[in-house]
Amino acid sequence: MADIDTAGLKANFGEVAGHGPDVVAQYFYSYLFLRYPETRDMFPPSMAKQRDRLVGALVRIVTNVDNIAELVPYLEDLGRDHRKFGALSAHYPAVGEALITTLRHFSGDSWTEKLHDDWAAAYGLVAATMSGAAEKVDASEPAWWDADITEVDLRTFDLAVLKVRTETPHPYVAGQSISVEPSTLRPREWRLYTPANAPGGLEIELHVRLIDGGPVSTALVRSAAPGDKLRLGPPFGQMVLDPASRRPLLLVGGSTGLAPLKAVIDQLARDGGRPTHLYFGARSVREIYDRKDLDLLAERYPWLTVVIAISDDIRWKGPRGVVGKVVANAGDWSSHDVMVCGSPAMVKFTVATLIASGVPENQIKFEDFGDA
Ligand code: HEM
Repeated sequence: MADIDTAGLKANFGEVAGHGPDVVAQYFYSYLFLRYPETRDMFPPSMAKQRDRLVGALVRIVTNVDNIAELVPYLEDLGRDHRKFGALSAHYPAVGEALITTLRHFSGDSWTEKLHDDWAAAYGLVAATMSGAAEKVDASEPAWWDADITEVDLRTFDLAVLKVRTETPHPYVAGQSISVEPSTLRPREWRLYTPANAPGGLEIELHVRLIDGGPVSTALVRSAAPGDKLRLGPPFGQMVLDPASRRPLLLVGGSTGLAPLKAVIDQLARDGGRPTHLYFGARSVREIYDRKDLDLLAERYPWLTVVIAISDDIRWKGPRGVVGKVVANAGDWSSHDVMVCGSPAMVKFTVATLIASGVPENQIKFEDFGDA
């Protein structure tokens, strides 16, 4: 790996992307589907250009192969998750071939043997980690779990809380996410959501915010009804409680980043409780979509303190400001385990502010709603 020039790969893709990401993705998929037609049915029925999710993610991951040690837990989750598409080890060389053929095509004269070898080596490392993890999964573990929607509660015009019921228990841990396919409404479209309750039964609560133009969130917020079928992928993510730690907890969430933090509180309650502060940040009072539950939790658990910070609404009588700043100004959190979940900007700011205020980096776990 030492001699893979990842900066060279990034520069090469920068040049390729200059032809337009849609054109590049179209070439990639045309090659893949013509050459390996058996892969077509793994992808959504309509491959409208703006919906490409694989090529960009693929390049982003492969060109960061110099951080492979840090990427391994994510790649292992991703490899296990790809079983739900029907992706087997044999498909990885096909995708690698389509990627390299596409890059060569758009590189023209700047394509070199070194670029070829570096792309192949970097892709090979990532693919081996993913397919290796998928092969290690116990054969009795399903590639997905079937579920029914049992309740849709539209909390704001763009946010719904869904209750879904699986046929068999789903093996997630509180704080982890699950990819969800609305198989009745949008077959073969998958997006990650995070359960808001700890595992243990068959019921899972999901918080879904409408993303403009997002087919899955639109289906789940606008059209979903009890009885609609879902498929759920395997668990994903590292933002879980450290079983060896007894430190108090600080949880900081924005928007539906509240969901995993509620799951963690649910898990703590089942384990007997631990001093915990939950900070939920929103721009306006209208965005406090789970107020009733937050009040209930604060009332029920003496070890839990709930603080809501509002940045842009003068009606709010509680703490005002962006949640990262409010929380950092509220005390010394250096002896706490911290979890942060929300938009990429909110997470970046909050984590940086907490580190600057003295919280050791290795006590902070975070998840954002950005792409891989
Ligand atoms: C190193 C190899 C690979 C990497 C790093 C990779 C990575 C990813 C990532 C990160 C996504 C999700 C993108 C998102 O949701 O934003 C994705 C989606 C997907 N991947 Fe892979 N993948 C790889 C290989 C494969 C292979 C071999 C197949 C099977 C032919 C495959 C099939 C798919 C499909 C069907 C999707 C969903 C695409 C969509 O919704 O439009 N991937 N991949």
